[in-house]
Amino acid sequence: MKALVPDDARRLAALHAMCFSGAEQWSEESFAGLLQQKQVFGLGDGDGFILGRVVADEAEVLTLAVSPPLRRQGRARHLLAEFCEEASRRGAMGIFLEVAADNTSALSLYESADFQRVGQREGYYGPNRTALVLRRESGFQTGLGLFFDANTSSKMESAIPSFRDLLYRSGMKPVSSLSHEDASNRPVSIRLGAMEVRLAESEEEIRAAQDLRWRVFYQEMAAQPTPEMAAEQRDFDRYDEICDHLLVLDGQKVVGTYRMLRRSVAVVNGGHYTAGEFNIKPVLDYPGEILEVGRSCVDADYRTRGTMQLLWQGIAAYVFHYNISLLFGCASLPGTDPARIALPLSYLHYHHLAPPALGVRALPERYVDMRRLEAHQVDPRLGFASLPPLIKGYLRLGGFVGEGAVVDSQFNTTDVCVLVKRETISDRYLKHYERRSGESEI
Ligand SMILES: CC(C)(COP(=O)(O)OP(=O)(O)OC[C@H]1O[C@@H](n2cnc3c(N)ncnc32)[C@H](O)[C@@H]1OP(=O)(O)O)[C@@H](O)C(=O)NCCC(=O)NCCS
Repeated sequence: MKALVPDDARRLAALHAMCFSGAEQWSEESFAGLLQQKQVFGLGDGDGFILGRVVADEAEVLTLAVSPPLRRQGRARHLLAEFCEEASRRGAMGIFLEVAADNTSALSLYESADFQRVGQREGYYGPNRTALVLRRESGFQTGLGLFFDANTSSKMESAIPSFRDLLYRSGMKPVSSLSHEDASNRPVSIRLGAMEVRLAESEEEIRAAQDLRWRVFYQEMAAQPTPEMAAEQRDFDRYDEICDHLLVLDGQKVVGTYRMLRRSVAVVNGGHYTAGEFNIKPVLDYPGEILEVGRSCVDADYRTRGTMQLLWQGIAAYVFHYNISLLFGCASLPGTDPARIALPLSYLHYHHLAPPALGVRALPERYVDMRRLEAHQVDPRLGFASLPPLIKGYLRLGGFVGEGAVVDSQFNTTDVCVLVKRETISDRYLKHYERRSGESEI
């Protein structure tokens, strides 16, 4: 079966026009643009084709079409099987797609190929036309688990939703189970049963977040406190005063936190934390509002899927509220010996390096080369599997890393700079989400 190339765009658009109508029809330019993207791949020809992409460890079928006179001969089934296999080869663990609920032929194809309904989105294809979200495993499992930090990370591993997951959930949550209180006043306000995500609203709540950071970073992960911190048994620095503190609360108890600093706040308060490790000029030159994130942690008793989803939903709500165009921050790999984390560092460098325009680089005096292995020695699947859950989460959002890592002895970590452009996630899911958020969903 032939792999699609940008030159196929015209034929694909012609076939697409025979198979879809209205806004669902894609132009030749759309196909040409998609086929130029590294993550996008397709199979077939002008009689029938499938197009999709793999981002980090997830694949998505973008479209599938078979010429009307050639249907019911097994073409689509074959294309789908080949696509799933290729997606698996490229490291995808799961494959998502969307299909109109009234598209019975496609639904029966997908369901007979083991895709299962994981959600639905009312009105997605227009008024009264519901989209079903289907997913299946790609068949590939590493069986390796994580290379390090197995006690805490294995639970977190399954807890980090893909951004797509996150958006599905944000867009699809039944109103009864997820209510947003005071959405008009609060940038973030999400409730799920006894759990809640919002920004800290008092000094007391910020202290509770600092207490949690102390427990996780210093007691659990062996960071080195300053004497002042040790005396107070809290993690704090000058940035706490100017940052927003995202909290996950169980009742009154702070069980998760994330620190966020927008450009507009940083510029009048002495800059960004990440600037102490990386030259972030390309980030500062980026148009629009930018958001620095960091100090993410979750109480050991709450490292469940539910807590992590809430935390990520909170970040998404914040991003939408402040119209953030770029999210960035230091993300940590455990340990200070780069040789022991050669695989994740090398994998990140070879597979997720930021494009030149976003070429953030470790400060020269702190620069640690991430290329610990040769490119051919890095198996992408194992490389991805070796990453801490939080970094996987960023990559699933379509994130990149800057060049060079930095050893942070105080925190007993090696840091990379992570960057996520809003536009990389601005696909139809995001647009849908934005529409809904405009309707005060969040
Ligand atoms: C959906 C589509 C891709 C199927 O292509 P196809 O080559 O005819 O499909 P196949 O011959 O491989 O059929 C595989 C299975 O799909 C299902 N199927 C396909 N056409 C069907 C129909 N008209 N009615 C019911 N089931 C149908 C059947 O389960 C079939 O298995 P079977 O033949 O063993 O019963 C094709 O109808 C199409 O291009 N439709 C318009 C575009 C579209 O809807 N794309 C999917 C967007 S998500």
